[in-house]
Amino acid sequence: MDTDSAARPIARLVTGLETRDGAGVRLVRYIGTPDLDQFDPFLLLDEFRSDDPDDYIRGLPPHPHRGFETVTYLIHGRVRHRDSTGHEGLLRAGGVQWMTAGRGIEHSEMPEQDRGLLHGFQLWVNLPAAEKMCPPRYQEFAPDAIPEEPRPGGGRVRVIAGSTPAGTRGPVAGIAAEPVYLDVALPAGADFRFPLPRDHRAFVHVIAGTLADAGGRPAGARRLALLGPGREVRLHALDDSRFLLVAGRPFGEPVVRHGPFVMNTEAEIRQAIEDYRSGRLQAP
Ligand code: FE2
Repeated sequence: MDTDSAARPIARLVTGLETRDGAGVRLVRYIGTPDLDQFDPFLLLDEFRSDDPDDYIRGLPPHPHRGFETVTYLIHGRVRHRDSTGHEGLLRAGGVQWMTAGRGIEHSEMPEQDRGLLHGFQLWVNLPAAEKMCPPRYQEFAPDAIPEEPRPGGGRVRVIAGSTPAGTRGPVAGIAAEPVYLDVALPAGADFRFPLPRDHRAFVHVIAGTLADAGGRPAGARRLALLGPGREVRLHALDDSRFLLVAGRPFGEPVVRHGPFVMNTEAEIRQAIEDYRSGRLQAP
């Protein structure tokens, strides 16, 4: 068998864990749970999806990060971001914030609505040892800054990071994990093929509909499908479907995490806690 041309199979289906974070935001956690503590280079994947304000209105009040990147992508609703240096932005449906926390950021993430549907994802992407203490950086893009490629036969691909074979390139750039982050919509019956670097780890989060891999294994809505090795993603839409396809280069480094700090060693975690307590998390 020519494994070099193999389609990446759905290797594992993950049902998320319902939990709360921040000041009581209800969410489903797919990565960063006892069942799936990481999927190198991805440390966490949360989906928040509710039209009940009690599930989200209290938001994520000020909290720190060090040693990795947080990626927030909104499907519905609005979230205001504010950090302790005064940087502020409003994330809208279809927009993305790719925040490289590096040596440290303390920020709040608060829904800017008191009714209606709030739906989105937060992904944590690791940084390699050499970049964990880099200066913080933001890449923020409004919905109309994210290119959308129509697909022959219907459907579309929004490209947040990475590029398609047709040359559509996402605006997020310069990320250590060399990520691909796509939001794909397909009509029932459509086939989707997408080449990825062989060494990248890849997953699909099914937002709506049902997909099947090249071997016919299905993945339904609100499931995370971890893809196995292969040269390309090959999926078939059994229904009208929408999904995120995310891939990144694994680092293969030790991961020591303590809440919002993710470093390589226990000593670095102790340093992060000490820096945070003494107000030096963000210091140059
Ligand atoms: Fe955060």
